[in-house]
Amino acid sequence: MTRQKIVAGNWKMNNDLSETEALLGDLKNQVIPENVTVMVAPAFTNLYSAFDSVREDAIEVVAQNMHQASNGAFTGEVSAAMLLSVGVKTVILGHSERRQYFNEGSKILSEKVNAALENNMTVIFCFGEGLEDRKSENHFEIVKQQLAGGLFHISEENWSSIVLAYEPVWAIGTGETASPEQAQEMHGYIRTLISENYNNTIAERVSILYGGSVKPGNAKEIFGKKDVDGGLIGGAALKCEDFMAIVNAFE
Ligand code: PGA
Repeated sequence: MTRQKIVAGNWKMNNDLSETEALLGDLKNQVIPENVTVMVAPAFTNLYSAFDSVREDAIEVVAQNMHQASNGAFTGEVSAAMLLSVGVKTVILGHSERRQYFNEGSKILSEKVNAALENNMTVIFCFGEGLEDRKSENHFEIVKQQLAGGLFHISEENWSSIVLAYEPVWAIGTGETASPEQAQEMHGYIRTLISENYNNTIAERVSILYGGSVKPGNAKEIFGKKDVDGGLIGGAALKCEDFMAIVNAFE
């Protein structure tokens, strides 16, 4: 089974309009390998300009978050329809920073997932355990709860619109990565969970990205593991050279 290989740059709250234009200008000059789907997630304010700038290129512009309601009195929020109207068809949901700083738990995330799917968007669903959970060997249980709570209510058909991103919180922005073996172990476990809750075909088809301090120096080893289909990249996505080295890190 060949799964979609994906490298997605999560720019977080970095890059204003001119920086966004400059980085995308650099990325557009690079050769994107045909077998890799490349995505970038700029801030909301720069989504349209980013979409417009790469509309002819093999770079997809995605959002970092969205609200679950279709419209209404939710000051400061952005809906699925608004994202679609500026060309954005994919949204990252459940990033650990959203969970941690904005109190997004399973209930809200399941509603956001539903809103995205109802609008025919693709979801990059993030999850992963914290350091204490890893130390107390509770990491499998946490991942199971996060998947069950936020995602396992969707229909079989909707799995074709899902990309998973396993991001152990202790590895995000810390310079500490999960070892390739730890990533493989968890990704294998995630496929088992999907197989148990749905079926083996879905489990084998879904792309599972690893995220957490992926750098040019470690990407090849991590992407070389059989159940790792790419990465969600934070810090290293802000430099064209580093990001492209990661895009090119598949065997
Ligand atoms: P990092 O972030 O690569 O800077 O660790 C990854 C992420 O938060 O998606």
